[in-house]
Amino acid sequence: MKIFLDTANITSIKLYNDMGLVDGITTNPSLLAKEGGDPQKTMEEIVRIVKGDVSLEVVATDTSGMVEEGRRLRKYGKNVVVKCPLTPDGLKACRILTDEGIPVNVTLCFSSNQAILAAKSGAKYVSPFIGRLDDVGQDGMSLIKEIREIFKNYQYGTQILVASIRHTMHVVEAGKIGADVVTIPPDILGKMLKHPLTDIGIKNFLADWEKLKKENPSIRI
Ligand code: G3P
Repeated sequence: MKIFLDTANITSIKLYNDMGLVDGITTNPSLLAKEGGDPQKTMEEIVRIVKGDVSLEVVATDTSGMVEEGRRLRKYGKNVVVKCPLTPDGLKACRILTDEGIPVNVTLCFSSNQAILAAKSGAKYVSPFIGRLDDVGQDGMSLIKEIREIFKNYQYGTQILVASIRHTMHVVEAGKIGADVVTIPPDILGKMLKHPLTDIGIKNFLADWEKLKKENPSIRI
């Protein structure tokens, strides 16, 4: 399972990238707005820092506008994936950009029907937003299960990118289903990293080492 970071926060990106955990990044206008500053500079910096795919989203709503923006975004770097919304215009833009060799992440997917259409339009990734489905009383994870099953039946090459992750169990469940990618907000990745037994274990090991050192002051590792 690939791990993408769902953020435009440079500090978090650097932190987890240095740990070797970041296979890619997903951004959107809301995540950029959260960081403030110049969004173009932020996007350029992210593309420079991260080696893997970086999804940058268009804001035009018509096909020609999306294609134009997509071509401009792609100039930031060879690892840019253009994010287009799952609309008729978005799918048309997806087909055009894909045929030009520019990979596309079709975003705002909320049904298996939509995911099938994203795959047919040549998307490299389709992003089902599971947290937002959970928010309105639908089971987001069962959508991932269904899409996985359908894509397997027809060997669609489109990767399932689980988005709108709300907690650590979303990540575990997505992994059990065999989703290709999960895009995780930094605070949730931080929670994945922590376990109280790890902290207690380190504390105890260090205390025992101190005991040993009292007996043999010259020891070192
Ligand atoms: O990648 C999509 C994601 O950022 C949406 O998350 O929490 O706004 O539903 P959320």
